[in-house]
Amino acid sequence: MQVDHKRTTLYITVSMESPLCGDALRSFDPELFNLVQREHQRQAETVDLIASENHVSMAVREALGSLLTDKYAEGYPGRRYYSGCGVVDEVESLAIARAKDVFGAEHANVQPHSGSQANFAAYLALLPTGSTILGMDLSHGGHLTHGAEVSFSGKFFRAATYGVNRKTHVIDYEHVRSLALHQRPALIIAGASSYPRVIDFAVFGEIAREAGALLMVDSAHIAGLIAGEAHPSPVPHADIVTGTTQKTLRGPRGGFILSKAELGARIDSAVFPGSQGGPLMHVIAAKAVCFQEALLSSFKEYAQAVVSNARIIAEELLDADLRVVSGGTDNHLVLIDLANLNMTGKEAQDALERAGIVANRNKIPYDTRSAMIAGGLRLGTPAITTRGFTPEEVRTVSRDIIAVLREPSSNSVRDRVRGSVLEMCRRHPIPGADSL
Ligand SMILES: Cc1ncc(COP(=O)(O)O)c(C=O)c1O
Repeated sequence: MQVDHKRTTLYITVSMESPLCGDALRSFDPELFNLVQREHQRQAETVDLIASENHVSMAVREALGSLLTDKYAEGYPGRRYYSGCGVVDEVESLAIARAKDVFGAEHANVQPHSGSQANFAAYLALLPTGSTILGMDLSHGGHLTHGAEVSFSGKFFRAATYGVNRKTHVIDYEHVRSLALHQRPALIIAGASSYPRVIDFAVFGEIAREAGALLMVDSAHIAGLIAGEAHPSPVPHADIVTGTTQKTLRGPRGGFILSKAELGARIDSAVFPGSQGGPLMHVIAAKAVCFQEALLSSFKEYAQAVVSNARIIAEELLDADLRVVSGGTDNHLVLIDLANLNMTGKEAQDALERAGIVANRNKIPYDTRSAMIAGGLRLGTPAITTRGFTPEEVRTVSRDIIAVLREPSSNSVRDRVRGSVLEMCRRHPIPGADSL
């Protein structure tokens, strides 16, 4: 089968010699190779504003594509069930040491396959089923695994939820405190998927101690900001911190768990054999690379730029009289309330995608629409910051977004924005696309 990589509609040429995908795949499975190339093309030509996505370095990608995937290593370094684990023991030990170093944690487990798996293992380590957990409401910015009915967390535990203040859209810590004292949860969960403000982990820690609860912080979204010191660290305040490596931390898709030393053995056995089988050694190697990257001083600059770019977007939206949930942002994301534009999140997402801007519809606090339609739009800056978009270009993207949201059916606006997006994308190739 011929790979049609020269479609006339392409604006950016993805070379067939691209290091993203090699000769073996091209010759053995051209169909799949073609799909990878098309995804490469899509990423190269669009502006990714999905707050939970990023572009990994070639070093991370090479580790992910390495033959470490071949090795079965059930257990932990020095305590494996199979032989031949000497080298992967060193790989995992390196990842653990670097994770502890990045976050200043006493114990780290780098085996969770994802953020949800990390949360599952954390609950398994800490709680008998049927216990009460208190997490942020899904529609106020929490995550499915914080107690939503459709998730294991809502099925195996009695879930109580807290939300944000109706007026300010900021967490009302006094309300959290009174809920905690009333509900007496065994575990309080702080952390969110779409909350644009700093979370005060010290206050959460106090509340948990007052209520006799453990505190878990789910740092999935902001792990990279914490690593880069652009968000206060939860580590001194929480009993356990879960996270993902793929979001602001800019690593492979995967999870990790940090804790005080005394909880380490319980956490390790809740991950394996409690909830997972053999670890993904190639992913753990890629996590080690991403932790190493996060230790560089340039990563601090990256994390600060992620936040300042999000602030630019919020500023531009507010200047254009759009409604920004909580009136701005302190982190990597901005949530737009679309009510005064008379459109749904789904309509906004689709109109932006037609213009080359990829973002996701999102419920906003007190939203009455379903998550599939949603009244808001979430915009995040981790990926464009990795690509090196300048503050001026972030302003341009913001103005392009405003133009599309104001006239979602205009073909001329769509075409103008598409052109502007392509120009910027051409100036800032995704990592590993030197040949573009
Ligand atoms: C706060 C939070 N926790 C956990 C997760 C789950 O991560 P994963 O998709 O890796 O399972 C997410 C994903 O978006 C998240 O936002």
